[in-house]
Amino acid sequence: MAGRGGSDGPPGRGLKQRVRTAGRRKPSSTRWLARQLNDPYVAGARAEGYRSRAAYKLIQLDRRFGLLGKGGRVVDLGAAPGGWSQVAAAAAGGAPVVAVDLLDMDPIDGVEIVRGDAAEAGTQRAVRRALAGKAALVMSDMAAPATGHRAVDHLRTMALAEEAYAVAAPLLEPGGAFVAKVLRGGADDGLLNALKAAFARVVHAKPDASRRDSREIYVVATGFRGGGRAAASGRGPTPPLP
Ligand SMILES: C[S@@+](CC[C@H](N)C(=O)[O-])C[C@H]1O[C@@H](n2cnc3c(N)ncnc32)[C@H](O)[C@@H]1O
Repeated sequence: MAGRGGSDGPPGRGLKQRVRTAGRRKPSSTRWLARQLNDPYVAGARAEGYRSRAAYKLIQLDRRFGLLGKGGRVVDLGAAPGGWSQVAAAAAGGAPVVAVDLLDMDPIDGVEIVRGDAAEAGTQRAVRRALAGKAALVMSDMAAPATGHRAVDHLRTMALAEEAYAVAAPLLEPGGAFVAKVLRGGADDGLLNALKAAFARVVHAKPDASRRDSREIYVVATGFRGGGRAAASGRGPTPPLP
């Protein structure tokens, strides 16, 4: 059973496993399989009952920045399959945790699931209804499927982070926090300036559980002062797949 108070890392590292019978598998699939088999966070998530290794990223960010707490309402954008929501629900002590995703998610105790695009007004209305108050934390691990086109992937991820803040600003309580996945190089100027104006502290962090070869990092903003405005990038909605 997943719960808080456990480790902020994987429970143990086993012996390195080799993928022996590659058969007709593509080399990229063999590499992926070998990485999964030898990833201590994958093993940890299985042992501790988390739905994704991503759970450890939030646990580590929370240990560093004190994001979660009893009684604090949480909105989890891009929540499927649900690792972050499991961690948030275990910490919230019964306060609402609202999980949003384009994809279906299996139920989690203490989590209200809203299926839809976080950028759409109907989804945002459903989140407000389920939250029934202001949020202590709005977090986004939203990611668009990688296209392999670096510039397109970059634009899509940054647009999602901006969308996340547009959702977060009207929902956050004073003193609240915002976390969003961005890419190496950090949040774009438009988003960063908006965050700096609205929060006491804005930093970038890469938790240990975030793969070293991945370009993802997180922008973490704490001490919401209120009156936050959406980032002014003028970039518009998430660009479509090429
Ligand atoms: C990396 S996964 C999140 C993993 C999750 N944090 C966990 O702990 O299990 C990214 C998710 O973002 C979702 N997503 C991407 N764009 C979205 C959007 N516009 N609205 C809602 N969800 C979105 C995807 O469907 C995907 O499930």
